[in-house]
Amino acid sequence: MWPTEPGCIAGSIVEDDAKGRGVREAEEHGVMGQMDGIRVVESSAEMRSLSSDLKRHSKTIGFVPTMGFLHEGHMSLMRRAHAMADVTVVSIFVNPTQFGPNEDLDQYPRDLSGDLERAASCGVEIAYVPDVEAMYPEGFQTYVSVTDLSLPLCGASRPGHFRGVATVVAKLFNVVRPDVAVFGRKDYQQLKVIERMVRDLDMGIQIEAGPIVRETDGLAMSSRNSYLSGDERRQATCLVRGMRQAQSLFEKGERSADRLVATARSVIDVEPDAKVDYVEVRDAETLAALTTVGDRAVMALAVFVGTTRLIDNVLLGVDGPLVAKVDV
Ligand code: PAJ
Repeated sequence: MWPTEPGCIAGSIVEDDAKGRGVREAEEHGVMGQMDGIRVVESSAEMRSLSSDLKRHSKTIGFVPTMGFLHEGHMSLMRRAHAMADVTVVSIFVNPTQFGPNEDLDQYPRDLSGDLERAASCGVEIAYVPDVEAMYPEGFQTYVSVTDLSLPLCGASRPGHFRGVATVVAKLFNVVRPDVAVFGRKDYQQLKVIERMVRDLDMGIQIEAGPIVRETDGLAMSSRNSYLSGDERRQATCLVRGMRQAQSLFEKGERSADRLVATARSVIDVEPDAKVDYVEVRDAETLAALTTVGDRAVMALAVFVGTTRLIDNVLLGVDGPLVAKVDV
């Protein structure tokens, strides 16, 4: 049960959880208040105080950082966090420091009220929704760089991207102070960067990886899929079709990274509006380049379809068929 002692934020206690956990529903709505049983928290001080209250009462915190416009991929992570911890927190923050100067920061899709509904339906109790000025006040100058893992793949195409990601995730971790945080394998390099940061900086947070959730035709779900026109949406399946072709060649015994890459590229290159940013096979842990593929390799790709940049990946020899997957 959540605390009621003086000094806590005003609220009522609602016993509403199948696991018998107490969930506090704030009466005082603060800046944004409460929606659909979810408590919306804008200020880091309030979020920090909620986390302290939870810790004082020996409640574990599960956390899913997001940039919003939530879809089934995000929801699978929230359900997983909910299953692993007493209280689930999602953050929704479109983080400017991970966008390059010519990227889609300004047009990034947003739907806060829909997001809150979706999060609530996954059992999320708290949505932490900070604003840019509070996250990056004037004079901000401290960044986290995970050096080697940030260099290849998306790090090469998007300089500074992972510095922005690691910095904002470190900040979010410092405020939310989760026991476990769940990340999607869709952003494979990001997952590796975060795992490394947590180890290197002794953050003591368990990092869980959720599988890639796909549409029925295999396209990995992404907030950015909303940018695609109908025709581009059809062409966008070339990423998963290319990976499937490479995967099947791998299963037949092909171990040359170049040949696996060439196979995937040959599928993508057929589409008139698809332009490869990179297709690479790398060591699944270190992301080091490979010429011969061993037993833990990832094929990672980034492809522009029209002006929309899509990413996807497959663990060769580990992943099963790349089909729609929405269960956790
Ligand atoms: P965002 O793109 O909103 O993704 C939030 C989380 O959802 C990430 O862990 C991502 O890997 C996961 N995710 C996205 N699409 C998925 C899919 N189809 N299947 C499974 N998981 C999926 O990643 C970010 O935000 C940001 O970089 C963030 C970590 C929040 C830092 O700003």
